Parts: sequence; structure tokens; C-alpha cells
Amino acid sequence: MTDPMDVHKKTAARRAADMVKSGMVVGIGTGSTAAFMIERLGERIREEGLEIVGIPTSDDSEDKAVHAGIPLTDFAAHRRIDLAIDGADEVQRGSLHLVKGLGGALLREKIVATAARKFVVIVDGRKPVDLLGERAPVPVEVIPFGWECTAEYLASCGARGVKPRQDRNGGLFVSDNGNMVLDCHFGPIEDPEALARKIDAIVGVVEHGMFLNMASEVLVATEQGIERWEP
Ligand code: 5RP
Repeated sequence: MTDPMDVHKKTAARRAADMVKSGMVVGIGTGSTAAFMIERLGERIREEGLEIVGIPTSDDSEDKAVHAGIPLTDFAAHRRIDLAIDGADEVQRGSLHLVKGLGGALLREKIVATAARKFVVIVDGRKPVDLLGERAPVPVEVIPFGWECTAEYLASCGARGVKPRQDRNGGLFVSDNGNMVLDCHFGPIEDPEALARKIDAIVGVVEHGMFLNMASEVLVATEQGIERWEP
């Protein structure tokens, strides 16, 4: 399905893909914006002979990267990533805190972003917010065992209507890591660091989708062109 924002997603994605240099280990994000970046890297490999290896953040991105002709590697061979490029569901103006994971890949995305020397985020103009949680729920990846208890602990942190994410067919969504994702609606989050500490302390939580102080740079593409934000 095409999205009217595709043109902007593509602009941001291509700009980020053009930051990649030969010899780099590249973190390959997940989602529709990241898909344009994968496509562009494939193009550069074919047309310019760009020599890179990639570490994908999901099974879906792995398939897309293979299809684009990007050679893949893993953390057994490379502990550090030179440049990770990924989309986001929300970007907080100023701090550049993110919400990620509406595509369900938040755990691998956070592992890859954490290992990256530089983490570039690519978004269209719908993603900037004044406070995280304004529009998107915070996805939380949890261990299936005892998820009902984990959901109650999350509710005690202020999350409303905590429910397991469903897949496209209305079945239970299972992450690439075999876990469940609980979408937590907090509303606008005044103190994301404090909330992140509380969620991190809940038994059964594997990881949450707030990426705090992680983005090195955000490329926001709109009708007016690309804005480049740094923290
Ligand atoms: C997947 C993600 C994506 O980066 C995020 O959902 C943005 O996706 P899109 O570019 O399709 O809007 O975090 O887990």
C-alpha cells in the first residue's frame, strides 16, 4: 500500500544511505522508511561498487537486504557498527528522544543502535512531537510467561489499555525473538527517563521502545526539504 508520505520517507532514506562509505559495518533498520534506505544501498552497491556489510534489525530487513544485494554479517564478526540507520514512530523535538517499535523490531533495533558509533534516524514530517507518547503507544517487548502480571505492572506505571499486540490476521503478534509486544498508552510523557527506569525494573520486560539519548542525528523530510537535527 502506498503512503502519501512515501516521497518524504524516500528523501530522508536516500540522504542517510548516501552517508554510508565503503568499508563500513552498517546497522540496517526496520520499517517502511528503512526499506527505502535498503533499496538505495543496494543501488549504490550495484552502481558505484560500494563495499559494506550490514547487520539487519529484523528478519524482514534481512530478507530485504539480501534481495537488495547487501552482504550481511553479525555481532560474532563485528562488535561495533559504524553507522546505524533506522526510522522512528516519534521524535521528541530538542532532545531527539524516540519511540520505536510499532513495527515490532524494537529489541534488535536497540541492540544495533547501542552498538553503533553513529545512529541516524530518518523520518517524515508526521513523526516529530513535543513529548513522547503524544501520538504513539510505547511498545514493550515481554516474555510470554506471566505476561498478564507484566501487563499489570505496566498499568501501575500509568499505561492504559495494555493489550498484547495482534498480527495482521488478528492472531497474537510474536516478535523475531519469540516474545510478545504490549502496546502501552501513557499519553504525553513528561519524564521519559523516570518512566524508562520504572519499566526497566519490571520482571518479564525484555525491552521498551523509548530510545533515550541515542540518536546522533535525525533527518526530517517534509514538503520544505530535509531538516537535519542534532541533539
Ligand atoms: C520498527 C520501527 C520502525 O522504525 C518504526 O515503526 C517506523 O516505521 P516506518 O518507517 O514504517 O514509519 O521502529 O520496529
